Amino acid sequence: MFNKLIAATLPYMPKKLVWIFSKRYIAGETIEEAINASKELNKEGIKVTVDLLGEFIEDLSQATENKEAYLNIIEAFQENKIDGNYSVKPTFFGLLIDEEVCYQNIRTVVAKAAEYDNFVRVDMEDSLCVDREIKLFRRLKAEFPNNVGLVVQAYLKRTLDDLSNMMDMQNGSSKLNYRLCKGIYVEPAEIAYKKYEKVNENFIKGLEFMFQNDVYPGIATHDKNVVEPAFELIKKYNVPKDKYEFQMLYGVTPELRKMITDKGHSMRVYVPFGKDWFGYSTRRLKENPKMAMLIIKALFNR
Ligand code: FDA
Repeated sequence: MFNKLIAATLPYMPKKLVWIFSKRYIAGETIEEAINASKELNKEGIKVTVDLLGEFIEDLSQATENKEAYLNIIEAFQENKIDGNYSVKPTFFGLLIDEEVCYQNIRTVVAKAAEYDNFVRVDMEDSLCVDREIKLFRRLKAEFPNNVGLVVQAYLKRTLDDLSNMMDMQNGSSKLNYRLCKGIYVEPAEIAYKKYEKVNENFIKGLEFMFQNDVYPGIATHDKNVVEPAFELIKKYNVPKDKYEFQMLYGVTPELRKMITDKGHSMRVYVPFGKDWFGYSTRRLKENPKMAMLIIKALFNR
């Protein structure tokens, strides 16, 4: 109740106050800040995936601007020799306004990354977007078999079926590459598991499916109760270290991150940056009111 109240009032809180909470989770407003944060992570042997903050847009001119921004990011990251790839949210490129325009925008970004032999991850958004994002991924994967991946969400009841259905895209040396996460949006119980245990169980089933089918997983979690069973699966299937990676969000659970990297597993950190950090933070907090408590803690731990 208290958390929900904080989350609801957040968008009306002074930006400075929200920044106290957010600065730990956001690399900054500029490309330079994102590059510096990425360099620090790279020094620790951690790869990055870079995300320009922003989601739903109102008109397609914003989608064009976002595409241009990503093209600049790719150039800057390549120039700075950052060990990392790129994450995109299709709604940011016009998915809910015009699917074809969105496809062309993201296609241009993937083509640019492909010029450098790099990779773009299509983030998964709320359930309204899932079919469209799978369709988008299919088209991109057909043209850029080694340069594009998708996110799948363990809380969705459909995910194991989606994983089976998408296997037709895997052939020869072009493997499927997914980020497996729990899912962050608030979805109805008809389509999404609500219980913590059930989501974790589906996560592990999805991961096992990937190992059994030679799919490359990005194991994206900060939950010890998922990390431990993931270790067990890696052992059970004797998965080589270059056939999977762990992924975490910037600034979240650094101790667990260290525990994983100390064991020699590969790690990638999602580095969000951009001027829209306020919208991003307040949306995340509204979606997950439990995290509102972290603001209070941050206020006292400065
Ligand atoms: P869980 O929610 O159980 O959290 C475990 C613990 O981690 C918490 O108790 C808390 O301590 C800490 N924690 C988790 N998230 C935190 C946060 N944001 N801030 C502070 N502490 C936090 N979702 C989605 O729907 N589409 C997507 O494309 C992506 N992409 C993505 C990329 C990467 C690299 C990660 C790590 C996550 C995502 N997600 C996502 C978000 C994901 O779906 C999920 O909501 C969060 O990772 C939280 O789930 P956990 O598995 O960490 O477990």
